[in-house]
Amino acid sequence: MTPVRVAAGAGALAGDVTLPGDKSIGHRAVLLGALADGVTTVRRFSGGADVRATLDAVQRLGAGAAWQGDTVRVLGAGLELGAGVDVTLDCANSGTTMRLGMGVVAGIAGRCVLDGDESLRRRPMERVAEPLRAMGARIETSDGRPPVHVHGGALAAVTWSLPVASAQVKSAILLAGLRARGTTWVREPLPSRDHTERMLAHMGVPLASGGDGIGISGGQRLRGAEIPLPGDPSSAAFLVVAALAVPGSTIRMRDVGLNPTRIGAFEILRRMGARITIERRRVEAGEPCGDVVVHAGALRGTTIRPEEVPAAIDELPILAVAGALATGETRITGAAELRVKESDRLAALEQLRGLGVSVAVLPDGLVIQGKAGQRLRGARVEARGDHRIAMAFAVAGLAADGGVVIADPDCVTVSFPGFFELLGRLGATVEEA
Ligand code: S3P
Repeated sequence: MTPVRVAAGAGALAGDVTLPGDKSIGHRAVLLGALADGVTTVRRFSGGADVRATLDAVQRLGAGAAWQGDTVRVLGAGLELGAGVDVTLDCANSGTTMRLGMGVVAGIAGRCVLDGDESLRRRPMERVAEPLRAMGARIETSDGRPPVHVHGGALAAVTWSLPVASAQVKSAILLAGLRARGTTWVREPLPSRDHTERMLAHMGVPLASGGDGIGISGGQRLRGAEIPLPGDPSSAAFLVVAALAVPGSTIRMRDVGLNPTRIGAFEILRRMGARITIERRRVEAGEPCGDVVVHAGALRGTTIRPEEVPAAIDELPILAVAGALATGETRITGAAELRVKESDRLAALEQLRGLGVSVAVLPDGLVIQGKAGQRLRGARVEARGDHRIAMAFAVAGLAADGGVVIADPDCVTVSFPGFFELLGRLGATVEEA
């Protein structure tokens, strides 16, 4: 895709939109559907590159899949999924496919190689390999990174304490625990997103909780289920800040996921002064959701504390942009994990300087001096193959003189196919640059 320039249009942003289905929940629906007995119907499947990688992977392991419109039907292979395979799974850009996938294949009597693109090949995998080895799987990484070779088999339960909160590591252990002998316990320092736990319960396998965190007893069978995905709150966060950035704007987003472990960014933005309201709240397939309505408005800087990071981990790039538009200072700490996401996001966000924003990059965070009341400078930025960096800077373009050019915009399809088209429909200027 050629570079794209994003700038404010003639007027405010306005619209009533439906976002692609949640990426995190989508991965889990496909993986758990493949491990279940019977058919799992996943609705509002985004077709994003990440969830497609997971869908391809489960088919290679022997599950069936039929995809029509935005509905995917997964024909589960039960706990026998993958027995006897010798396959390579291409996880593309998707850390969730690889890490949760490792948990799934650890319990297979067979051999599996998990590999990915250049970005994924730089990301740490020992954090998942270690607990799975302790359960009995044979796993080799390449200096801690992909490709990962898994020789799975009979697993035994473990009790594992995560040094850093991570839903991917927690979920990998729980999925391996589903096929292990005994009860596997996982404990984490701060609560990370709990979609795996909710979906296991929805499919007939409730978890135990106790002093050792959460526990799963091995050998329980999952029942195929209906899983309507809510809109992705991580995608919504980009449009929320877009509306805040352009005076007079109002955007309504239908059926957005509102799981408390995912919506830290909405709370932080409210503290910064944003007017965000929720309507038609309800729970579907164990996940809270509702309509999110946001109006343009002035923001003030804030301090994002380490304990707030897990519930806003994927939104920190767009919160950094919100900080750039606010009055005063915005400080983010306790976010060293951003260095090992799809790119080193702290380093990538240093490009805010090109927009005239003063940014200090810390080992585990950022300090941003807001430019409220002034336009940002137009600039050209590199997304570095990272979808959330591309979308964060695109939103910054709405407040920049002449807009922002994203040199490599195609990576947005990882989580938000149609992002640029949607921004254009809401009233932004989006054009080839
Ligand atoms: C995810 C968990 C988070 C998040 C990622 C998706 C998940 O990663 O950043 O985008 O679906 O479980 P960590 O588990 O590494 O924090």
